[in-house]
Amino acid sequence: MTETVQPARPPIVSVRGLKVKRGRVQVFDGLDLTVGSGRLTGLLGPSGSGKSTLIRAIVGLQRIQAGQVEVAGLPAGHPDLRHRLAYSSQADGVYLDLTVAQNVAYFTRLAGRPASEVERVIEAVDLSGQAQRLAGRLSGGQLRRVSLAVALIGAPQLIVLDEPTVGLDPVLRVRLWDLFTRLTAQGVSLIVSSHVMDEASRCDDLLLLRQGRLVAATDPVRLLAQTGQPDAERAFLELIRRDQAAAR
Ligand SMILES: Nc1ncnc2c1ncn2[C@@H]1O[C@H](COP(=O)(O)OP(=O)(O)OP(=O)(O)O)[C@@H](O)[C@H]1O
Ligand SMILES: [Mg+2]
Repeated sequence: MTETVQPARPPIVSVRGLKVKRGRVQVFDGLDLTVGSGRLTGLLGPSGSGKSTLIRAIVGLQRIQAGQVEVAGLPAGHPDLRHRLAYSSQADGVYLDLTVAQNVAYFTRLAGRPASEVERVIEAVDLSGQAQRLAGRLSGGQLRRVSLAVALIGAPQLIVLDEPTVGLDPVLRVRLWDLFTRLTAQGVSLIVSSHVMDEASRCDDLLLLRQGRLVAATDPVRLLAQTGQPDAERAFLELIRRDQAAAR
């Protein structure tokens, strides 16, 4: 089989020998991986596999025991990364007593960006019709999109989104994945975690975690070819089955 030749761009994220303990759980015990620059990378894995912990390490929020995490050649959490990296967490701070537009305007000012950004990012996440509504009155999916709008403020080089499509209906999910694809076409690198396996097919690259280990670093076409399965969901189950068998 011929391998696709990747352009020789340095990785946007490089993780080497990462060890992380959370409470009594040894989440990572020597994790190595890289994330390609300008790519839409899906971070997939069952609940508890370490997706959010890896994301926290990449954005510099996670205390680590050992190893290196570099973003754009700088150690994760470096102050120079503040305006180059955008992050939206699984449970994040939107002010419920402010309107959508007020929330976005607040974060736009914090980022030192012009007020014209507000309309742009609200439109990008399809919330123009809700801009004047209180965040506390929004549905879960609408709230999720407010925090996504905040992540789009400025011109981040890397956008890291933890389960951005949870609670969204299929139409909105497709629209958001279209937005992610457009952003990567503009040269932005995206890392998007999900446990909805069919979203894997929208990614350029795939990282599959299981119990804190990298089970596969692949892409949608290779994933199906490697496993002989018809869809991503079954392909991942097959990879997990093989991983379990190998661990025995
Ligand atoms: N604050 C914490 N204290 C102790 N253990 C934690 C903490 N947060 C996470 N863990 C543990 O770390 C492991 C990885 O959790 P993590 O949140 O990274 O998984 P995940 O893949 O994001 O899961 P999900 O799909 O449910 O969001 C799990 O075993 C979890 O129980
Ligand atoms: Mg998580």
